Amino acid sequence: MIKKAVEDALNEQINAEFKSAYLYLSMSAYFQGTGLSGCANWMRVQYQEELAHATRFFDYVHERGGKVLLSPINEVQVEFSGIVDVFEKTLEHEQVVTGMIDRLMDISIQESDHATKSFLQWFVDEQVEEEANVGQILNNLSLIKGEGQGLLMMDREMKSRVFVNPFPAKI
Ligand code: FEO
Repeated sequence: MIKKAVEDALNEQINAEFKSAYLYLSMSAYFQGTGLSGCANWMRVQYQEELAHATRFFDYVHERGGKVLLSPINEVQVEFSGIVDVFEKTLEHEQVVTGMIDRLMDISIQESDHATKSFLQWFVDEQVEEEANVGQILNNLSLIKGEGQGLLMMDREMKSRVFVNPFPAKI
């Protein structure tokens, strides 16, 4: 049976993953409104990934005999000052999520919950990749100064991103 401290932290993480999904859907809507349809697609895929993360945590709590508590999702930002602002906020957000996953891992270690430690390792690795991907996008934006022909080419590239369910057997 899962310990209360781990169950509470996992429920907080479910909320954080749904909040991430909501934030990225909001960013997708923002890009749609500015005509950057490739970036809108990239954020839409990001939204789908976050839903998959939330659902995986949801299933894991049940697998361990815990109780899922779905709490309200706070309002997310809807207006941004441009593409660089959006991706800077994305990186900041992912850094917060990384901190939450690390804290969850710390709690699992304190509670000697080896199953949760093993489960979380995928998310620890995923956060490294998420931060690196967004860092790369910010680097590219800095090279093209976030505008002009370079931006159009970048937007076209962002259109090719497709959602691949990381947990096909589970969801
Ligand atoms: Fe679910 Fe972007 O971390």
